[in-house]
Amino acid sequence: MRGIILAGGSGTRLQPVTTVSSKQLLPVYDKPMVYYPLSVLMLAGIQEILVISSADHLDSYRRLLGDGERLGLRLEYAVQDRPRGLADALCIGRDFIGDEQIALILGDNIFYGHALTGTLRKERARLDACTLFSYPVADPERYGVATVDDTGRITSLEEKPERPKSNLAVTGMYFYANEAADVALCLKPSARGELEITDLNRHFVDQGRARLVDLGRGSAWFDTGTHESLMDAALFVQVLAKRQGIRLACIEEVAYRMGFIDAEQLTVLGKEFVATSASGYGRYLMDLSGR
Ligand code: G1P
Repeated sequence: MRGIILAGGSGTRLQPVTTVSSKQLLPVYDKPMVYYPLSVLMLAGIQEILVISSADHLDSYRRLLGDGERLGLRLEYAVQDRPRGLADALCIGRDFIGDEQIALILGDNIFYGHALTGTLRKERARLDACTLFSYPVADPERYGVATVDDTGRITSLEEKPERPKSNLAVTGMYFYANEAADVALCLKPSARGELEITDLNRHFVDQGRARLVDLGRGSAWFDTGTHESLMDAALFVQVLAKRQGIRLACIEEVAYRMGFIDAEQLTVLGKEFVATSASGYGRYLMDLSGR
């Protein structure tokens, strides 16, 4: 399975914070936002990842993350020249995807939960055509909303409905069979001129091949598209970090725990941070590596 992080869009709801900065590079407490979706793909065991952003910002991502080798990853980069919709990510990534399955994640979505890693791996292994992940929310009308039958098959899917049929918001993480990339290429732009992810997903819903996995109330999901939700996410990360002494979405730690790098490599990364930064991040990595 190959991963795609879509870090496009113009972040209009966050201006002026996003006037010159890419939304998905803004801090969520102690890390750039993109670390969070990146760590989720890594926890799913995915090591080949395409980062998509606008021409203005793509270089910043490249500078931040590089070619991924130091984390045992292969990272590639591609431009989305204007916000052409979420499903456009599969069109841009068509060559990168090759013959593999696809995990698409939005660069502003933050997931956390004790069972998350197990769920991701299980769903990856049992993927048929399309697996979406839902989260119960108080304001479903802001999101894609799904209903399911008792086998988990999606029976309806609507984008930002006025009268939601359930409280299950469709989160910004999507697992697809390889064929989805070709389906995306055939989609027609919607009235607002975008390739809608909901249209892509509906293709599989209509075939009875779309599955919904509820992340459930024992987990946390934030989309950080507004000042309030960005602040909520940062506070959540801060509370856990302070209370448990852990760092969420520490990509070096995830790489180590997933076996993408060994303790020796983790020490090297930690030393680099200790040498150049007073943030304590390097010390945290050194402690983890036991050196
Ligand atoms: C997009 C999707 C929506 C999904 C949401 C998750 O909405 O269209 O179905 O629920 O991401 O973050 P957007 O945030 O682009 O309005």
